[in-house]
Amino acid sequence: MAGKFITFEGGEGTGKSTQLKLLASWLREKGIDCLESKEPGGTEVGQEIRRLLVCGDKDKMDPVAEALLYYADRRIHLTKKIWPALEKGQWLLSDRYADSTTAYQFYGYNRKVQRETLNSLYKLVAGDFKPDLTILLDIDPVIGLKRSFTKAGTMSDKETRFETRGLEFHNLMRGGFLEMAKAEPERFIVLNADKSIEALHNEITGIMAERFNIP
Ligand SMILES: Nc1ncnc2c1ncn2[C@@H]1O[C@H](COP(=O)(O)OP(=O)(O)OP(=O)(O)O)[C@@H](O)[C@H]1O
Ligand SMILES: [Mg+2]
Repeated sequence: MAGKFITFEGGEGTGKSTQLKLLASWLREKGIDCLESKEPGGTEVGQEIRRLLVCGDKDKMDPVAEALLYYADRRIHLTKKIWPALEKGQWLLSDRYADSTTAYQFYGYNRKVQRETLNSLYKLVAGDFKPDLTILLDIDPVIGLKRSFTKAGTMSDKETRFETRGLEFHNLMRGGFLEMAKAEPERFIVLNADKSIEALHNEITGIMAERFNIP
C-alpha cells in the first residue's frame, strides 16, 4: 500500500480533532492527497454505530458490548475507507483508532475487558495491519475535560457519554495510552498537549517532515 495511515490518540479535549485538521491542510499544501476520518463513525454505517456509543446514559451498555461495537465500526472503516484510500495512494488521518478502544475498554474500566480479547478482536478485523504513525496527545485530564466541556456546550448532539465518567477513569486511560506508547516506541510519538494550538501543530509538522521525508 502506497499511502500512509496516521492516527491521533489521547483523552478528551487533548486537541486531536483540531490538530488532525491542521495537519491535513499542511499535508495538502505539500501536495499530499489525504483523507480526514475518525472512529467511531468514519463511514455511513459507522455513524449509526457512533451514535449508539457516544450518546445517552453511560451505563446503558457494558464494556464488552462497547468493545464489540467499536470493532464492528473499525472493520467497516478499514474495509470501506482506510484500505481503499491507502491502495489509491491517499493518506488517511484518523481521529482515534484501536489504541483508544484499549485505553477505554481495558485501562479505563480497569481491566473489565481482557487485553487478549481486544488483541484477538484486532487480529480478526485488521490482521497485521497497523498505523504507520500514531500521534499521542497527552495532557492532564483536568485540563482536557475542561476544554471538552466548553466545547460540549456548543454541540448539538451532546456526545458526552464518556466525558461524564469520573476523573479516575480518565486518569487510568491516560496511563494506559502512555504504557502502550512505551511498548511500541517506533509507532508512537507522545506529545505534551498542554501548549498552544500553533506550537503543537509546529511540533507535529516537524516530526512528519522528518519521519516521512517531506520537504
Ligand atoms: N492547544 C490548545 N489549547 C487550548 N485549547 C485548545 C487546544 N487545542 C484544542 N483546544 C480547544 O479545546 C477543545 C477540544 O479540542 P478538540 O476538539 O480538538 O479535542 P479532541 O481531542 O478532539 O476532543 P474529544 O476527545 O472530545 O473529541 C476545542 O474547543 C478546541 O478549540
Ligand atoms: Mg475530537
